[in-house]
Amino acid sequence: MVPVIECRGLHKWYSGVHALKGVSLSIAPGEVVGLVGDNGAGKSTLIKIISGVHGPDRGEILVDGKSARIATPKDAMRLGIETIYQYNAMVPTMSIARNLFIGREPLKASFFGIGLLDQARMRAESVKAIADVDLHLRSPDALVGELSGGQRQGVAIARAMHFKSRVLVLDEPTNHLSVKETSKVIGFVRGLKAQTITGIFISHNMQHVFQSCERVVAMARGEIVFDKPTVETSIEEVQEHL
Ligand SMILES: Nc1ncnc2c1ncn2[C@@H]1O[C@H](COP(=O)(O)OP(=O)(O)O)[C@@H](O)[C@H]1O
Ligand SMILES: [Mg+2]
Repeated sequence: MVPVIECRGLHKWYSGVHALKGVSLSIAPGEVVGLVGDNGAGKSTLIKIISGVHGPDRGEILVDGKSARIATPKDAMRLGIETIYQYNAMVPTMSIARNLFIGREPLKASFFGIGLLDQARMRAESVKAIADVDLHLRSPDALVGELSGGQRQGVAIARAMHFKSRVLVLDEPTNHLSVKETSKVIGFVRGLKAQTITGIFISHNMQHVFQSCERVVAMARGEIVFDKPTVETSIEEVQEHL
């Protein structure tokens, strides 16, 4: 099967720091991969390259077997790659509905060339998107700034689901969440498979990865040092390689 994402020989330097030292990784469509490793291993750098935040200094990325230029987060979005960070790129002073549609606002009509936002459609679709991920929020008009960390992650996940992202990248999404909110996020990751959404779940919590991912990839010092189906390995074995 043609991988949905393939990284070939990625290198990244931050001035003096060689953060990625030739990383190659293939991910099959619908596969849910856990990416683990100590702080500074290069996990975030790798996914920032996949999601268009940074460009690689060397190497290439293929999407569906074709060389892809992912120069901005918008390029990634267009390719169906959605990323959820520990601190989400949401605007706290805007409503849930507006945040769901950031970058994809539906326009009602053009008024002398200026599009008018279709507020009613955004509200209606947000209510559905939020219900679909089993989030119970009062109103799509509530400000994101008033939500808990877990609810914000929920809105970000609802956004990815609603727009049928093909690849969902979650970089430490459970940091600073309560135990209950964390298990909800783990549940989302677990549910990706059934929706045939490809997932890359970064976590320093090995248990969470083993609970929700079918494959575990470990990085250390800018390289991939381990890669196995979770059913064929154990937390102890992964740790021996870090
Ligand atoms: N914006 C940056 N500027 C300089 N160095 C960075 C930057 N981002 C990451 N690094 C360095 O690159 C290395 C890999 O970091 P990172 O990808 O964030 O690792 P991880 O997500 O696995 O903790 C670390 O040594 C880190 O200090
Ligand atoms: Mg990181």
